[in-house]
Amino acid sequence: MNRHVLVSVAWPYASGSRHLGHLAGAYLPADIFARYHRLAGDRVLMVSGSDVYGTPITVRADQEGVTPQEIVDRYHAEFVSNWEDLAIQWELFTMTGTPNHHEVTQDIFRTLHENGYIERRTSEQFYDPESRRFLPDRYVEGTCPHCAYEEARGDQCDDCGRTLDPVDLIDARSKLSGATPVSRKTDHFYLRLPEFSDRLEEWLHSRQGWRKHVLNFSLGWIEEGLQDRAITRDIDWGIDIPVEGLGPGKKIYVWFDAVIGYLSASKEWSQIQGRPDAWKDWWENPEAEHYYFIGKDNIPFHTIIWPAMLLGYGGLELPTNVPANQYVTFRGGKASASRGIGLTVGGALAIYEPDSLRYALAANLPETSDTEMTAQEIDRRINDELVATWGNLVNRVLSMTRSNFGGRVPEPGPEHPEDAAVRAAADQLLHRVADRIEKVELRAGLRTGMEMAGQLNAYLNATEPWKTAKTDLARTATVLKTTLDAINHLKVAFAPYLPVTAERLHSMLGLPGNLSDHGWVGLPVPAGTTLGVVRPLYRKVEASRD
Ligand code: MF3
Ligand code: ZN
Repeated sequence: MNRHVLVSVAWPYASGSRHLGHLAGAYLPADIFARYHRLAGDRVLMVSGSDVYGTPITVRADQEGVTPQEIVDRYHAEFVSNWEDLAIQWELFTMTGTPNHHEVTQDIFRTLHENGYIERRTSEQFYDPESRRFLPDRYVEGTCPHCAYEEARGDQCDDCGRTLDPVDLIDARSKLSGATPVSRKTDHFYLRLPEFSDRLEEWLHSRQGWRKHVLNFSLGWIEEGLQDRAITRDIDWGIDIPVEGLGPGKKIYVWFDAVIGYLSASKEWSQIQGRPDAWKDWWENPEAEHYYFIGKDNIPFHTIIWPAMLLGYGGLELPTNVPANQYVTFRGGKASASRGIGLTVGGALAIYEPDSLRYALAANLPETSDTEMTAQEIDRRINDELVATWGNLVNRVLSMTRSNFGGRVPEPGPEHPEDAAVRAAADQLLHRVADRIEKVELRAGLRTGMEMAGQLNAYLNATEPWKTAKTDLARTATVLKTTLDAINHLKVAFAPYLPVTAERLHSMLGLPGNLSDHGWVGLPVPAGTTLGVVRPLYRKVEASRD
């Protein structure tokens, strides 16, 4: 039986450009993980899309004096072209604005309501007496009650990452008018989270191999006591509430609909495949594995609220793992598009080749702690590691094969112990890298590959095939053949991380078809194979401009 792997990736708000923090936080790790599983022959469904509703979009539209739809169209197009340029490969990247997503969201809302998990309540919400409007989420700013950060938003504090309710803010002010908001009564629907507390706790305790920070954060939330959460808002940009009773001017809260995107996108993909029930192989299959790639500010939505919604709906699979990443920081502050900190994806792609950028970020993924990034660090990773260790290795060995053996992979001579050691290490490589990737230790998987590349460079320096070429050509043949075979293993190990150049290397080695057709297997390059045109895999980057 094939494994079914769902790779769910945080839905980016279509309200601003993605920056390197987002890329390292969610999109790149998801792509590495999904590419590995596809090569391993597993059935992968990697989905996400633009998150198009809520105050992140409307605040931006207000600022620019355009419609929310214009904002959404602009950034959705930008995201799609970012993925293309970065070789981030989706089964489907859609958006929450589709009729399909509306239907699936309304079905879940209706069912949770019928099952008694959604309740109507009257509550106090902030109201702007000058603009005469309720002020949901990002329309309020103020001081964070947890960390005293003065520019916390009504939905979340950018500094300590806690999720907030606008009424929690100290010295709250309206973003519309600057006025001090007043409290007013308004009706909303609430998700009765406390109903799920015991089941969620038990489920979380049953999870294996989760990152400590994710598990601790999630269990901490439950220990503090879950509270009913409003899942509708006083806003006109969102999905219609499918249950009567609230009156006009209200929509479903963006965070309620966005997480449903994982399911709705799976259904949309199935439709496109012409197999409308295909999504069930992941969502109704207890053997399927569901991984959620997100940044840590999104943890409670994926480890508590979405699982609660799935439990309340019934019959659908919960996350297998939520390997949330910590933050990438640029000189100490969280990378943030809205605060203009850090390079945007587009800005970075104007400077770096896609695989080089992927390498530098993958080598620094914030898997266990916040990770400081600078342009110098990116340049160093590319020049001193990717180019110096891997790019040069490939270039050296292929060029020597060209000059000494007319570009044909030579028949090896007798094997020496040092050759056997390299062969043995190469044979272990794909198991070792796979083991890391399966555990979502992607940084370590990449390091394992780079260590092997380093070992090959050391082997060449010790055996000096360029010298033996003049005295003992058979020895040169053995060393080059041994190295070419190891490079062919490394090509596969690096393919999830460096897909563009791995594919290019595949044809430079003169091998038939595409790398992706060959799967997660290391094979020797048959003697007699004619190499393709040898060109450097990577360009060095110029001294930094940070
Ligand atoms: N749009 C949110 C953000 O950019 C992420 C949503 S993830 C999903 O922070 F769960 F809603 F899909
Ligand atoms: Zn805070």
